[in-house]
Amino acid sequence: MVAVSFNNVWKDYGGGAIAVKDLNMEIKDGEFVSLLGPSGCGKSTSLRMLAGLEHISSGEIVFGDKVVNDLPPKDRDIAMVFENYALYPHKTIFDNIANPLKQSKVAAAEIERRVTEAAKLLEIDQLLERRPQELSGGQKQRTAIGRAIVRQPQVFLFDEPIAHLDAKLRARMRGELKHLQFTLGVTTIYVTHDQLEALTMADRIAVMNDGVLQQFGTPQEVYDNPANSWVATFVGEPQMSLMEMQVTSLEGETALAFGSYTIEVDPKNSARLRAAGKKDLLVGVRPDKATVSLDESLGSIRGEVYSRQLLGADVLVEVEIGKSRVRAKANTSFAGTVGTPCYLNFGSEDLYFFDAKDGQVIPQ
Ligand SMILES: Nc1ncnc2c1ncn2[C@@H]1O[C@H](COP(=O)(O)OP(=O)(O)OP(=O)(O)O)[C@@H](O)[C@H]1O
Ligand SMILES: [Mg+2]
Repeated sequence: MVAVSFNNVWKDYGGGAIAVKDLNMEIKDGEFVSLLGPSGCGKSTSLRMLAGLEHISSGEIVFGDKVVNDLPPKDRDIAMVFENYALYPHKTIFDNIANPLKQSKVAAAEIERRVTEAAKLLEIDQLLERRPQELSGGQKQRTAIGRAIVRQPQVFLFDEPIAHLDAKLRARMRGELKHLQFTLGVTTIYVTHDQLEALTMADRIAVMNDGVLQQFGTPQEVYDNPANSWVATFVGEPQMSLMEMQVTSLEGETALAFGSYTIEVDPKNSARLRAAGKKDLLVGVRPDKATVSLDESLGSIRGEVYSRQLLGADVLVEVEIGKSRVRAKANTSFAGTVGTPCYLNFGSEDLYFFDAKDGQVIPQ
């Protein structure tokens, strides 16, 4: 359909904080890109600038090889779905979904076919004669998705389009939207604060914080090789734990000091830490790479159970060690309760290393 780029795009609404700072991103033709980040980080602003609903303060937005900075929304050939659906209150659900097709003078039989097909997919085919005020929030949201997908635009822009659906329907809609996008091959930018939604749906994820793009990569890249400690703790559920450690040596080998413990490091990471020459680190471990036990073992670190949360198949145990809290997944048979002394283990090859000063990853 069309490739889309942000080139050095800034958005300053005035009044202090800058919403988007020097955004550079190239979205390939047909790609599904998720804009992921916490509330207020600039996701909707970025999407609205692509749509032409918000002026950019400086930089360029490019569709294909055309700068569209001054092109009004209706001339950009985009279909948008926002969280607050914006349906026509006096039109039926059928007419709401059919509206863009009617405006493009599509034949009535074709409109009937496309609307019915979209409504079936979205499970709102029983509701086509109703009006928006007679629908639940989730049903309205699906109507808004229907209105976008009956068209075949160059670009889909979604802003938290399934946030109001229940968990089961959301899981199904993730699959359906992904399938639909793949089948139609429409370039898609999908805003969400839900990292699971981004990881499961996107070809590439753009992680934003505080108006700044932190990392742009495939879900696997972002999960396996986070660019900094902020991305590392934002992506992945349950969250990665960070521990303050210092690089030290043990019998001439590189090691890590963690409180009163000295942790041995595998040769690959040892070389990496030596080359970086940093002393103060934030060291990360994902909960499924840490084990917790009531029994002491070789290399284990003593702590205390701070909390335990049932996840279903296993429990998430938060272990307090000095001023750090480290999360570990354990078998539901783990007997520790809050306050119980326990022992934590992890392998140095599973650790993530960041500079304690600026949070940037220590290069591989
Ligand atoms: N029209 C506006 N005028 C002034 N400031 C605005 C305006 N719209 C957004 N902002 C500010 O710009 C920043 C980014 O807002 P934006 O809506 O892009 O965030 P977001 O990432 O979409 O957040 P959320 O997940 O809560 O929707 C916020 O600090 C917000 O307060
Ligand atoms: Mg938003």
